[in-house]
Amino acid sequence: MSQGICLQELPVDLEQERLPKHVAVIMDGNGRWARDKGLPRIMGHRRGASVLKELLRCCKDWGIPALTVYAFSTENWGRPEGEVDFLMSLFEGKLREELREMVAEDVQIQFVGNLQALPKSLQAEIERSVSATQDNLGIRFTVATNYGGRQEIVQACRAIATQVQQGKLQPEEIDEALFKRYLYTADVCDPDLLIRTSGEMRLSNFLLWQMAYSEIYITETLWPDFDRAEFHRALSAYQQRSRRFGKV
Ligand code: IPE
Ligand code: IPE
Ligand code: MG
Repeated sequence: MSQGICLQELPVDLEQERLPKHVAVIMDGNGRWARDKGLPRIMGHRRGASVLKELLRCCKDWGIPALTVYAFSTENWGRPEGEVDFLMSLFEGKLREELREMVAEDVQIQFVGNLQALPKSLQAEIERSVSATQDNLGIRFTVATNYGGRQEIVQACRAIATQVQQGKLQPEEIDEALFKRYLYTADVCDPDLLIRTSGEMRLSNFLLWQMAYSEIYITETLWPDFDRAEFHRALSAYQQRSRRFGKV
């Protein structure tokens, strides 16, 4: 990791007022990173987890109030059982290891996705970390685990339909603002910037509703090599963009 002292503070060429308020990241390329080094894929995941910790700290240092990362998609269950099991125990272990520090560093952690399908012991660790950090205000850190954008939209539709069926909601009352309240991300603003590592140019079912107007930054760098210098480049690129939201 390049952690030069100059990068602990916001780089001078970045404007504080024009930083994204919410950054979303598709952390991709762990497997390729490991393969390139002749290592098993799981080593890429292990390294990826420590890179994430650095990015979270960097967002806090530079004054970015919300970070959302894609840790496991609804499609990732299709990977070999050994890799899935490794990832689940990695998430659980990291949560246990890092909780004390997250509390100390004022991180509020939350999870989005279909959490009921996760191993019970991981669910317990998730509940513990969410409740221990719920009053923290330093940075909002959201981890998408067993998350799928389509699944999220379908569960919202189902919940809204139930309200209508019970006569608690009229179909005419359903608008974008109401719909947003039924998403997992109800209380977070939409991401301003999406970063995807490893050069893939797709959304892979991440935050489909929320990213309607996010700026997209793709780097060839593999996730385990993503450091502050890379993040700095992504933010510089973001600050060059002209966000029009359909206007002129
Ligand atoms: C991202 O890295 C981590 C997860 C999806 C859990 P990958 O494991 O997808 O790495 P590549 O894309 O195979 O290199
Ligand atoms: C997206 O990466 C999911 C996560 C980073 C957790 P994938 O590696 O699963 O995406 P695809 O398969 O290349 O689209
Ligand atoms: Mg991948």
